Amino acid sequence: MNIQAILSGKISSALIAAGAPTDSEAHVRQSAKAQFGDYQANGVMAAAKKAGMPPRQLAEKVVNLLDLQGIASKVEIAGPGFINIFLDKEWVATNTENALKAEKLGISPVEPQTIIIDYSAPNVAKQMHIGHIRSTIIGDAAARTLEFLGHKVIRANHLGDWGTQFGMLIAYLEKVQNENAKDMALADLEEFYRAAKKNYDEDEEFAIRARNYVVKLQGGDEYCRNMWRKLVEITMSQNQATYNRLNVTLTEKDVMGESLYNDMLPGIVADLKQRGIAVESDGATVVYLDEFKNKEGEPMGIIIQKKDGGYLYTTTDIACAKYRHEVLNADRVLYYIDSRQHQHLMQAWSIVRKAGYIPESMSLEHHMFGMMLGKDGKPFKTRAGGTVKLSDLLDEAIERADMLIREKNPDMPEDELKKVVEAVGIGAVKYADLSKSRTTDYVFDWDNMLAFDGNTAPYMQYAYTRVSSIFKRAEIDENSLTLPIVLNEEREQALATRLLQFEETIITVAREGTPHVMCAYLYDLAGLFSGFYEHCPILNAESEELRQSRLKLALLTAKTLKQGLDTLGIQTVERM
Ligand code: ARG
Repeated sequence: MNIQAILSGKISSALIAAGAPTDSEAHVRQSAKAQFGDYQANGVMAAAKKAGMPPRQLAEKVVNLLDLQGIASKVEIAGPGFINIFLDKEWVATNTENALKAEKLGISPVEPQTIIIDYSAPNVAKQMHIGHIRSTIIGDAAARTLEFLGHKVIRANHLGDWGTQFGMLIAYLEKVQNENAKDMALADLEEFYRAAKKNYDEDEEFAIRARNYVVKLQGGDEYCRNMWRKLVEITMSQNQATYNRLNVTLTEKDVMGESLYNDMLPGIVADLKQRGIAVESDGATVVYLDEFKNKEGEPMGIIIQKKDGGYLYTTTDIACAKYRHEVLNADRVLYYIDSRQHQHLMQAWSIVRKAGYIPESMSLEHHMFGMMLGKDGKPFKTRAGGTVKLSDLLDEAIERADMLIREKNPDMPEDELKKVVEAVGIGAVKYADLSKSRTTDYVFDWDNMLAFDGNTAPYMQYAYTRVSSIFKRAEIDENSLTLPIVLNEEREQALATRLLQFEETIITVAREGTPHVMCAYLYDLAGLFSGFYEHCPILNAESEELRQSRLKLALLTAKTLKQGLDTLGIQTVERM
């Protein structure tokens, strides 16, 4: 259930009935302090201004017209015209009960949209590095969240699998294959790329062959296509191993690389030219955009085809957006790409809109993120100053989690321990990233992310085990809980109200692509549970009614924590 939406609807109607303009918004928020009630409507002041009424007077009218019978136990006007709402505890109890019984924790069904999530997007013949980690982790959380809500999610892995570098890569793959048929250097893709480049730069004959292969590959030559496919396959099988390890839902089927749009490019350039949107300039084809200015303050020229006939990254992204409308029928497309590519995307999309390649209703959103920094505040690097490989990073996460979990659980059987270590180690890395507002840079710090207290994966996972162990310890079958939830204590009420706010949280994450909002919610929920657990005896409650009621609150807490962590791609374990 969505309390915020229910209250918004009712208060907006009352506002309008009280004489405010019909587009007035109630601006209902969860209150920051208990003295302001559970929710607060802040829209009266703005509405009063528009209507030319004294705000207090409008607030009083609204409150008189407002029917929150059975929902709120008290409605107050505060300050210049804030409306404070105190929820009725029986209403909260009944709805908590419903959430526990309902499928999907009582989340209201959504109008399903087709949503494409463009994420991960590594490059062929290059090792995925931590620059791709944020896209992969945050994008996957968005995919899981939207899917859980009931949308049709299409995962699009915009693999960098096309471009002039493939001539050199094919020529080098050929060379390596000829020289040693054994296991070749491809295990280390970074090294492979470097060696290919070195050959290209230093060996003229090699360079000629490479350039020839580019032309042949683009012409559809069988041999070159096969060599190209081999490079893609090797890269993707390594990346797939990383996805599996990261508990990321991407599969081979989700690859929609740059090459997919290649055949569309000549047609798009011709179309833009023919319609006068693109013009020729110094042999290249350029689109001038008024909304972007160059250094001289003139409209900026965006090249879509080079002098030599080659296309650009922008041209591909124009085709890609068009394809996502025409073929995939997307309502929304979310791009998880770092903030340095913002200008690039805005330019590509301006051209897409200008050309009318997608309907206005289709939303293209850049869900950008900042960089990963080291403790020194500089871009995250190895001690030797190189870029950190994702696989090395994950190895270290496992190593550190292993030490930690072993120390805390000296008697745990080895196979169980392995699973817990995996969940905690990988979870810690993912959660550290997910819990920070994605638009800012973030500092990567092992000690913080593996701490058992604070907003970390181990803390959240541990909180879950504590709640779920109550049921195990007392051998309680949840179906035996037949008595209703009662909320006598303040702590019980606070916990139940927060549980009901799961939907509001997930709706925010779905709208804005901000998993840190879910992390903050779960962290807060775990804290409220902890206070409740310490002060409200569960198994030793004074009466059977109270015992069952509290067990139900614990059960819904466990389910909410598990579901919430699942939308983030963080695994839970039963003990740790
Ligand atoms: N492969 C690109 C990179 O590594 C990211 C692609 C992002 N997606 C897109 N539609 N441009 O920087």
